[in-house]
Amino acid sequence: MSEVFEPNREFSRQARIKNMCEYKELTHQVNDDYEGYWDKLAKEKIDWFEPYDKVLDESDAPFYKWFINGKLNVTHQCIGRHLKNRKNKAAIIWEGEDGSRRIITYLLLYYRVNRFANLLKNRFGIKKGDRVVLYMPMIPEAAFAMLACAKIGAIHSVVFGGFSAEALRDRIIDADAKLVITADGAYRRGTPYLLKPIVDTALESGCECCENVLVVKRNFEDIDMIEGRDHIYNDLIKNESQHCDPEPMDSEDPLFLLYTSGSTGKPKGVQHSSAGYILWAQYTMENVFDVKENDTFWCTADVGWITGHTYIVYGPLAMGATTIMYEGVPLYPDAGRWWNMIEELRVNQFYTAPTAIRLLHKVGADQPGKYDLSSLKVLGTVGEPINPDAWMWYYNEIGGGKCSIVDTWWQTETGGHMISPLPGATPIKPGSATFPLPGIKAEIIDEEGNPTPVGEKGLLCITKPWPSMIRTIWGDPQRFVKSYFGDCKKDGKPVYFSGDGAMYDEDGYITITGRTDDVINVSGHRLGTAEIENVVAHNDNVAEVAIVGKPDDIKGESLFAYVVTKTDIEADLLKKEINQLIVKDIGPIAKIDALLLVPGLPKTRSGKIMRRLLRTIAKSEDITQDISTLEDPSIIIKIEKLFKGE
Ligand code: PRX
Repeated sequence: MSEVFEPNREFSRQARIKNMCEYKELTHQVNDDYEGYWDKLAKEKIDWFEPYDKVLDESDAPFYKWFINGKLNVTHQCIGRHLKNRKNKAAIIWEGEDGSRRIITYLLLYYRVNRFANLLKNRFGIKKGDRVVLYMPMIPEAAFAMLACAKIGAIHSVVFGGFSAEALRDRIIDADAKLVITADGAYRRGTPYLLKPIVDTALESGCECCENVLVVKRNFEDIDMIEGRDHIYNDLIKNESQHCDPEPMDSEDPLFLLYTSGSTGKPKGVQHSSAGYILWAQYTMENVFDVKENDTFWCTADVGWITGHTYIVYGPLAMGATTIMYEGVPLYPDAGRWWNMIEELRVNQFYTAPTAIRLLHKVGADQPGKYDLSSLKVLGTVGEPINPDAWMWYYNEIGGGKCSIVDTWWQTETGGHMISPLPGATPIKPGSATFPLPGIKAEIIDEEGNPTPVGEKGLLCITKPWPSMIRTIWGDPQRFVKSYFGDCKKDGKPVYFSGDGAMYDEDGYITITGRTDDVINVSGHRLGTAEIENVVAHNDNVAEVAIVGKPDDIKGESLFAYVVTKTDIEADLLKKEINQLIVKDIGPIAKIDALLLVPGLPKTRSGKIMRRLLRTIAKSEDITQDISTLEDPSIIIKIEKLFKGE
């Protein structure tokens, strides 16, 4: 699709960045004085306890440091500083799946978070720098817990509630966490489910670091409690004071860890900073969503992912906006649920994933027409490429043809948006994330580090440090350097490799073409093939396995497994067994969709599996690549035939 969609004129007039001239002017400002640009913003946006004395320290690249020696507290930035002007404004509007609502004003949020912070300190002895794992459903207490940690300087690590006990255990151990905060359970598709028993299983072995479990009662189910270890939040919180002084944090003190999958090995604990991260959260809320004082902002992500961190909790609250948090699924009680909420809560900016748009388009195309969606000003997408069909439906049926769609490209590691349209300025080409935000130096290069020509795929890199970039991988600085910074240098400094491919079109628009490594994006969830293959290899029938992504109409990609067996087990039964293992070790999000029994895997003479060929077959495409380097080229012919059912 080559059509270009101009921003709505009326919207542009009131937007922060009104046209491409203003965008270019900002990018010139950054190019002229890189540090000066960030200096001005940081001074303007952050309520510093103590000023910093240097903007950027590049001496230990790629371990960049920003706003050196500055002191701040992110929770003060998100709550405390708003009390003067916004104390009775709704900070969080929470909606339960059953339709119940809680409206938490900034003042109430302040008190709740203070009590929570005091509980962490006084009852559990949590101190600055301690790690706290959150395994929570989508309830306000998840946000309270994050902000309470930040208030006292503890480092939170939120583990998505869909991960299994084993996955949770690995993350608790890797972070050496002292405390786990969880809930008895929550509601999903109208029925209660339990979370606490999963924590119990996780803590059965190897988690000696974790001394206590704090349980928020959400659905008041009967759960087992271990005397001395497990504590009920609802009982204890009442005894804590509503006042708590914020811990002064250094700009570079870690705010949180968030585990994400890479192409090799176990998940990586991405470590984010305090000042740079919060500055970026605020900067992107202002420019990419153009959120204004009386706006209501809704991001449908789960707080267990980076999108939930930055655009449900930290970004909206740092701005003093109203953020919506929804507990349940989009299809409950029907596919009009989200549109109904937009109508009732008069949502102004709505941010979701292409998977959800495709699903709602497929099962409820007639639903948006039943609701008044006129409050919407900006629509956003994140996590995966959006296909033209889904884009057009979102634009016309949800946005009424008047809202810009900001297709935001970014990653857990980047902390916030990196490449995205600006809703009042950028003429949009559907399917393109368009241009880097002012301040971001993105380049597309080939393996040798040369810029790729227009229309040719290359590696998407960021060639200058930015404030909210990943600081390190928790406990593994070498892996940090190895995972993200190759040999390529720009101005003598290492270049950040995103792991994504991208290309420019003739107008300089950037299109993300997908991962260039062995990471698969299923429904916007990032999964490492190596991690899943390690789990599958534990099945006694499996001799060898290779997992690749296969295009899927709703999920974007689904997991396709090529398996060489040791026994003559039937494919269906093996798939069932494998999925049971995956659910136990990782979680249902990593289940395989299809499995093909094969006589062998295509390998080079040095024994490397040629996944590229397996991906081609899974996409039902013909193999055009050179297969002469394979140890046994006949294998690929056999696999192709099996795939086609010949
Ligand atoms: O492949 C890119 C894809 O999601 C990856 C990052 O995943 P994660 O760290 O889980 O964060 C997801 C939310 C930011 C990227 O490497 N991705 C993200 N946004 C887009 C995208 N692919 C295409 N278009 C996007 N807008």
